[in-house]
Amino acid sequence: MITDNSLTFLAFLPAAILNNLPPSEMIDSCSVAGPGFVNVVLSKKWIAQRVQRMLVDGIDAWAPRLPVKRALVDFSSPNIAKEMHVGHLRSTIIGDTLARMFEFSRVECVVRRNHVGDWGTQFGMLITYLFEKFPNPDDLSEAAIGDLQALYKASKVRFDSDPEFKLRAQQAVVRLQSGEINYRKTWKQICDVSRAEFDKVYQRLGVQLEEKGESFYNPYIPGVLEKLDNLGLIEESDGARVIYVEGVNIPVIAVKRDGGYNYFSTDLASLWYRLNEEKLEWIVYVTDIGQQQHFDMLFKAYRRAGWLPKDENAYPKCTHVGFGLVLGEDGKRFRSRSSEVVRLVDLLDEAKRRCRTSILERDTAKDWSDEEIEKTSEAIGYGAVKYADLKINRLTNYTFNFDQMLNDKGNTAVYLQYAHARICSIIRKSGRVIEEVKRNGKIVLDSEDERALGLHLLQFPEVFEEACTNLLPNLLCEYLYNLSEIFTKKFYPNCQVVGSPEETSRLLLCEATVIVMRHCFYLLGIEPVYRL
Ligand code: ARG
Repeated sequence: MITDNSLTFLAFLPAAILNNLPPSEMIDSCSVAGPGFVNVVLSKKWIAQRVQRMLVDGIDAWAPRLPVKRALVDFSSPNIAKEMHVGHLRSTIIGDTLARMFEFSRVECVVRRNHVGDWGTQFGMLITYLFEKFPNPDDLSEAAIGDLQALYKASKVRFDSDPEFKLRAQQAVVRLQSGEINYRKTWKQICDVSRAEFDKVYQRLGVQLEEKGESFYNPYIPGVLEKLDNLGLIEESDGARVIYVEGVNIPVIAVKRDGGYNYFSTDLASLWYRLNEEKLEWIVYVTDIGQQQHFDMLFKAYRRAGWLPKDENAYPKCTHVGFGLVLGEDGKRFRSRSSEVVRLVDLLDEAKRRCRTSILERDTAKDWSDEEIEKTSEAIGYGAVKYADLKINRLTNYTFNFDQMLNDKGNTAVYLQYAHARICSIIRKSGRVIEEVKRNGKIVLDSEDERALGLHLLQFPEVFEEACTNLLPNLLCEYLYNLSEIFTKKFYPNCQVVGSPEETSRLLLCEATVIVMRHCFYLLGIEPVYRL
């Protein structure tokens, strides 16, 4: 770590040599600071050169190289016809950032997988209900299906109260799974309606996903179970077929008593597909921590079969990235006021609407076009929702609060956007062409505040690497917030930029700061705002 009192700075020696600076010029002084510690003061010249190099070579030169070529992030993954709830929003936001972090780390192929729940007993219920409502199949269109959540509720009421309906629904599942054409067609229509709803959320968040739902793996299940059986992993228990794994008393059910498959059977097959067909080396699953045991048992079963290395850190590797609950301001599970399901699209629209209102109240926005107001409200509103989620350690529960996340003070995306826009405005006010300044200018870090800023900029690669290898986006947020703080509270009040004798060097420092800030925004999926 580059701090002024750590020994691990030695890791940076090769970089110093690459910068044509002899190691002796990298360090100003060393002194013993108690047992086991050595204070090292890095030279201003070395810090300046490294920052300058980044300006010339681009931020990509600071990307670490992960030891894998192919990685997959399984995230978002809502369930068709059921609510896409705030937990799925968390998964979407965290998963997207992890995928971006892998992409930046030069992983050649990063698969962003939407493992939607598109296969299961709920379809029997839904289809039976729809067939009853629309006896003529021609009347059954996507528009007629309408509100899936209402449909789900209504059919669930029938399912729970009418045994005859329940029986027909159960038979419908068998008919659907055996591929009967009418059932397949209606299943597909239901999936399409759901997908259109999910896409609205992805479109607002700017998140790309590739869908391969549970149904895709259905044909692979028998083969994978057979292989596991041949390895002696499958046992009979009470008519079900189960697998025991190390350290857990109860087994996992791989095939239910009625011969049906479940969530676990699908994950057994999908992991097989990912390892063998897709040749993935690091597979990351992003879900709430409630599913930790499910994944723990899945990976353990694979280790028992010898399909994953015994060493959990060796590749190919599987990791479950768990996150805490989303709570409302009352400290309970997040719900809308009517205790109905919260529609995620409405939530995002609300964030945007609030930003729009506060932008319109500002004098500076008087001459803005409608388009600029619209774009800025989206960038700030959606960015705020994402940042509020990403900035906390993902394992802790998180309280959803618009007032807090949209506050322009404190550790919020709004504050960061202001800081970024302010630096952009300093650069604009100088009237200088920054590319030219980059070509001819030189960074000099004479004052303490300049040096502090330069040093913090240099810490980006190591913080990023830590965030990426531990799959912890909050480390990146913390870095970004500290960068803004150093700029706003140290550099900005003490180091005049425009019109000062140090203008050129300071403009370069401003430029380096916005480049690193924008890159953090990018990794967090936040659109930067250039003026506010
Ligand atoms: N659909 C699941 C849910 O809503 C999440 C799926 C996660 N991915 C997986 N391969 N199991 O909880």
